[in-house]
Amino acid sequence: MSVRTLKVGVGTGDGGYPIRIAPGLLADVGALCRSQAPAHRYAVIADSQVARLFGPAVVAGFDDAGVDATLISFPAGEWNKSRDQWATVSDRMLREGFGRDSVVVALGGGVTGDLAGFVAATYMRGVPVIQIPTTLLAMLDSSVGGKTGVDTEAGKNLIGAFHHPSAVLIDPAVLETLPRHQRCAGLAEAVKTAAILDVELWDWMVREASALSTGDPEASAELIERVVRHKAVVVGDDPLERGRREILNFGHTVGHALEALEGYKLLHGEAVSAGMRVESRLGEQRGST
Ligand SMILES: NC(=O)c1ccc[n+]([C@@H]2O[C@H](COP(=O)([O-])OP(=O)(O)OC[C@H]3O[C@@H](n4cnc5c(N)ncnc54)[C@H](O)[C@@H]3O)[C@@H](O)[C@H]2O)c1
Repeated sequence: MSVRTLKVGVGTGDGGYPIRIAPGLLADVGALCRSQAPAHRYAVIADSQVARLFGPAVVAGFDDAGVDATLISFPAGEWNKSRDQWATVSDRMLREGFGRDSVVVALGGGVTGDLAGFVAATYMRGVPVIQIPTTLLAMLDSSVGGKTGVDTEAGKNLIGAFHHPSAVLIDPAVLETLPRHQRCAGLAEAVKTAAILDVELWDWMVREASALSTGDPEASAELIERVVRHKAVVVGDDPLERGRREILNFGHTVGHALEALEGYKLLHGEAVSAGMRVESRLGEQRGST
């Protein structure tokens, strides 16, 4: 297994946290989590869909490493990135006796990463989190950078916290089960990165379009490495989004408005794609693009 390793220069530990990318990496999940964030117990938080697909293998991976892990699932869907689910998951951890010496493992897409990350940020005033993204969007974007939170009726992500992970573990092989429209929506974040920062990445994506749209694990691993490398630099320079990091929000101002208008039926990546077109047009009209 060839492992690509990047580092984000903020967060916990000695000078940052690692991002490991390798097809097949999930088989070593228990040992990897123990080495990246040693703990007495691990709360593996996953939505119902991801728990069904990968829960048993992940729990077996912890068992194999002799590590105590409990799978906690919540119903899949953006509308569950809510204060109610934050309370339900946190209460379950309290009932099951998780202490301060626990680590949260966020196994899933961006909804799980944001919700479980916020549980970790607030549980007993904060316990470490390891992000294990399973959608392309989460691998390329949401698992890196430390933004966690929930949606409210007033808007998306309005209650939350910066809580950087101890590590991000990415296994592109899990993309095989991801529906094509979800994979294409995830590609929007790569298009965004190429548009704002890297014309060579843009050209490479055009050449590799067919392999990327079918979720080829090696092409996906290369894409993830190239996109995340950019995000790691920007986040490392501006961990709390006080300046340069705002560049990563290209397409998101309009995109978030579209998501809200459509009652969150649009996928995040679909909304961001439309947002990038609108914001580019506005830029052209103002003469700034
Ligand atoms: N924190 C950040 O920096 C950041 C950045 C971008 C987006 N986000 C957030 O991410 C969320 C969107 O994330 P998303 O698009 O990953 O949605 P999601 O987490 O809802 O996942 C989409 C669907 O795919 C399923 N799924 C996940 N992995 C799968 C797999 N390997 N195979 C089959 N099905 C799988 C899930 O169960 C879910 O039904 C939004 O809430 C958005 O606000 C956060």
